[in-house]
Amino acid sequence: MVLVRKFFYKVCIVGDSEVGKTTLLHQYLLGRFISDAERTIGSNFFVKYLKFPEIKNIITLQVWDLAGQDRFQWVRHAFYKGAKGIVYVFDLTRNNTFESIRKWKDEIESKVGILPNVLVGNKVDLMNPQDNKLNEEKFTELKEDLSSYMFFKASAKERVNVDEIFYKLTKEMIKKYDS
Ligand code: GTP
Repeated sequence: MVLVRKFFYKVCIVGDSEVGKTTLLHQYLLGRFISDAERTIGSNFFVKYLKFPEIKNIITLQVWDLAGQDRFQWVRHAFYKGAKGIVYVFDLTRNNTFESIRKWKDEIESKVGILPNVLVGNKVDLMNPQDNKLNEEKFTELKEDLSSYMFFKASAKERVNVDEIFYKLTKEMIKKYDS
């Protein structure tokens, strides 16, 4: 009997409401910018199949899009179970969403511990470096606090770094769980 190794990873994408989680996923999965993604109620999940040259099997990513609003906190807890990786997203034009990432870290780590993760500052297309209180030093500091594999500035609108987010996270999960 030949045993086929399964590369299956559950990933949760988290961050405050309106940072662009659903829009990033639409762009990643469908290659389109949807300007009016409906507010996520509770959670949705999407599946993406990936192929890496060095791995014979197909890799399955099951990505859970979790509602960012506080009132859905009770739903989110159940969905962290079994997660293998996290995408933390903030909005580069709203400092409070950056500050909130530590709250997301605490919520997740209290349920499932530290998982392979990447940090994403979304809406780089709207960012004006002059009037932004955030800087590279702050990004690096937060990335280190999260033990993140990488920090990306991304745009779900202009498809900047969208594939890279999931590609790098998947590489990290393969390294941790299946190599
Ligand atoms: P919740 O479902 O409430 O958790 O929000 P969310 O994080 O899923 O945000 P959503 O994807 O609904 O995006 C919120 C708004 O930001 C929408 O109007 C999007 O069109 C817009 N948006 C998302 N990403 C980008 C981006 O990269 N650039 C620009 N300009 N707008 C974006």
